[in-house]
Amino acid sequence: MRIISKAAAMQKCALQWKCRGVRVGFVPTMGYLHAGHLSLVREARKRVGKNGKIVVSIYVNPTQFAPTEDLAKYPRDLKRDLKLCRDAGVDVVFTPTDTEMYPRWGESLSSPTEFSTYVVEEKLSQTMEGAARPTHFRGVTTVVAKLFNLVLPDVAVFGQKDFQQAAVIKRMVADLNFPVKIIVAPTLRERDGLAMSSRNKFLDADERAQAVILFHALRAASLTVKKKPVSALRLKADLKEFITAAPLARLDYVEFFDPETLAPTAQVKRGTQMALAVFVGKTRLIDNMQL
Ligand code: PAJ
Repeated sequence: MRIISKAAAMQKCALQWKCRGVRVGFVPTMGYLHAGHLSLVREARKRVGKNGKIVVSIYVNPTQFAPTEDLAKYPRDLKRDLKLCRDAGVDVVFTPTDTEMYPRWGESLSSPTEFSTYVVEEKLSQTMEGAARPTHFRGVTTVVAKLFNLVLPDVAVFGQKDFQQAAVIKRMVADLNFPVKIIVAPTLRERDGLAMSSRNKFLDADERAQAVILFHALRAASLTVKKKPVSALRLKADLKEFITAAPLARLDYVEFFDPETLAPTAQVKRGTQMALAVFVGKTRLIDNMQL
């Protein structure tokens, strides 16, 4: 397994593969890998076959964090991540530094001085995570576009866990003609249903026990709409109440929408997508499900 930290070296490696007709599968991550990330690696391998190459990027992208968010304390363990990647049969781990991705990063945290071109998706990124975290998706689309230009993947795999992110990336790829196929792989969960996430590490024992409320809320909503449609307003009010059963949890948002267009729906029925964000203690968790 090769570890590449320079952008130019990554691009050179990818171009050499391209010249030889080697297929490339890509899994972008922010590291602190868990079984969910590794399931994306397996999916990528399935798509490119044993003769293809798998690249995992590990980069905690500062432009997708607001100044008030958890960039500085985002969990990191590169040594462990590298071992997991090696064991999973990854060919290249790309671990760029901030200055490699955003020249002269640090001179001004909110806007690096020698970086002024961003990729902005203007429609699907307005609601939910985009409304709660206004500069978040600009950072995500920008870094993913940069990574696509460096890794030149044929296939890139994203998790359903970040449903809106996957939708925004798919739109960016379609709108800007990136020659890459986007695959969205299912959410991996802990035994009790909590979606795996690097941020789960922040939860203490009580918070961890109560964090399953997100999954329970999704399941409760699924059961509610199984027989007949329900008004979104009504269901939102019921779920807000439902979440008070976990005293350490505070609902940030819950939305019901069309899984293709992300347009909010007034009537919630089978097939409607539900997404929610909940603070458990100080940790903000997200989850979603097709009802
Ligand atoms: P990160 O949160 O590290 O997630 C990397 C990928 O793993 C994303 O596609 C995410 O949806 C997926 N993932 C996370 N938890 C998962 C789970 N429980 N089951 C399945 N897949 C899961 O998402 C990002 O990083 C960043 O925004 C990134 C795309 C790398 C851009 O910086």
